[in-house]
Amino acid sequence: MAYNCLKADIIAAYSKVNKPQIKNFTNWKIFNTSSYLAETHGGRYLNNYANATAAPVYGKFEDVTKMPAGSVLVKDGIAVNQSGQTGISPLFVMEKMKSGFNKATGDWRYTMIMPNGAVVGTTKGKGSKSVQFCADCHEAGADNDYLLFLPDEYRIGG
Ligand code: HEC
Repeated sequence: MAYNCLKADIIAAYSKVNKPQIKNFTNWKIFNTSSYLAETHGGRYLNNYANATAAPVYGKFEDVTKMPAGSVLVKDGIAVNQSGQTGISPLFVMEKMKSGFNKATGDWRYTMIMPNGAVVGTTKGKGSKSVQFCADCHEAGADNDYLLFLPDEYRIGG
């Protein structure tokens, strides 16, 4: 499917981003059986990856109450425009920072990165306001440490 066709391009695009926390994220544990339509992330077909710190806990899904500091969750995937052309989706990143980083976001740092490597914004850093909408929506998952998880039918257990 389209993700596999574009995966090499996705890896190439985001390997240029100077952000060690997301290095080689496509080698991390993936939690979806196939890319799924994420209406909440601009109607793109996305995947959910978790780094080694996050994966054992993220896989508990709705039983999660708190993710360990150092957890990194990444959504990559493909964007499809109205004429059906596919392209690389922006990257959606959540990093659980040390306690005290930012109470308002439950110590999560949200970052959105464009396929050309440009960072749209990062919580408490450059463009912080541009990623406030991430935190606003993820507020709905407050009982699960602000996580919202993927649809049941696409899940791979933890
Ligand atoms: C309108 C609501 C909404 C907005 C805005 C939103 N998200 Fe999400 N997010 C979700 C939902 C729902 C899920 C779970 C389903 C999915 O993965 O698509 C999710 C899942 C995620 C995940 C996987 C971890 C989890 O919660 O299970 C990451 C990482 C993520 N979002 C990052 C971001 C970032 C970064 C932004 C802002 C650039 C953002 N999100 C904006 C609703 C939203």
